[in-house]
Amino acid sequence: MQALPNLILIGPMGAGKSTIGRLLAAELSRDFFDSDHEIQARCGADIPWIFDVEGEAGFRDRETQMIDELTQLEGVVIATGGGAVLREENRQMLRERGTVIYLFTTVEQQLRRTAKDRNRPLLQRPDKEAVLREMFGVRDPLYRATADVTVRTDRRGPRAVVNDIVRRVTR
Ligand code: S3P
Repeated sequence: MQALPNLILIGPMGAGKSTIGRLLAAELSRDFFDSDHEIQARCGADIPWIFDVEGEAGFRDRETQMIDELTQLEGVVIATGGGAVLREENRQMLRERGTVIYLFTTVEQQLRRTAKDRNRPLLQRPDKEAVLREMFGVRDPLYRATADVTVRTDRRGPRAVVNDIVRRVTR
């Protein structure tokens, strides 16, 4: 029997990757892994600490290592961090090792969903909206170039998004 492909969720902060990933995995009876969660467990420290002590570059090295490990599993659902598509080597691993699903959302929705967030170092600034718009400009083309499927998450709840994904990946 052919192994089930991994289902890999990419997209910006606040798109719902963790929530939708957990629901999707339960729906399809697969295991779920959240890259940021695994990085923190491995390191024994949270993401703000890693950014403080090792810088963004240190975090990105840990992220590449974790993407490499998680995508070598089979038939699992993986939620990546919003910056996972920044490195070409990551994009290549994601494309080659699973069906990649881009969870699209708008900057307006990101602002609402991350309003009280203290765990994302890149958003702890007064010009957060400008940061998110700049990121969208850089990253949206990378998400699109990496994904097999794009699904909007800004106009409906997680359950409807999961149903849409299931319909599109189990055809
Ligand atoms: C980041 C997104 C975060 C986390 C880190 C950097 C980014 O993950 O990996 O704070 O560069 O967009 P989420 O997308 O799960 O918030």
